[in-house]
Amino acid sequence: MGEMAKKIVKTDLEHLLKVLNEAYAEEWLAYYQYWIAAKVAMGLNRTAVVGEFEEHAAEELKHADWLADRIIQLGGAPILSPSEWDNMAHCKYITPHNFDVVALVRDNLEAERCAIGRYEGICDLTHNSDYETFRLSRKILKEEIEHEQEMEDFMADFETAKQYIKA
Ligand SMILES: [Fe+2]
Ligand SMILES: [Fe+2]
Repeated sequence: MGEMAKKIVKTDLEHLLKVLNEAYAEEWLAYYQYWIAAKVAMGLNRTAVVGEFEEHAAEELKHADWLADRIIQLGGAPILSPSEWDNMAHCKYITPHNFDVVALVRDNLEAERCAIGRYEGICDLTHNSDYETFRLSRKILKEEIEHEQEMEDFMADFETAKQYIKA
């Protein structure tokens, strides 16, 4: 990291790098959670749900990319072995056991809520001490909030469809 760039980070760098690497691990797991869900999904409104899963997968991967760049900028190294992802992540990968879109959307909704908490935490940690990481975590937080909304919208659609089926 550049000399001046380092000077303006007024937080415990080791702790910050640990937290950023946890988020980095979570993004890879979130990417795979959506990617595999898009492959195995079946049931109601499948095409629309799969399209959204694929879009979200691409965005989670982009988040991992942004985090890796920031970790390197701060003088750290992104986790080098995928075998560490699960250990490092607090937002855990949820193995899909039920391939119905309703179950898959529910799994991803849970994952998004965890991600929102993760970026709230990084925002809290950096808002007064590391402007660039704060900007990045707010940018990711904005997208996780949109992801949660889109998963909630699908859940609402499933509820509506159930009413039609009953009628
Ligand atoms: Fe993400
Ligand atoms: Fe997300």
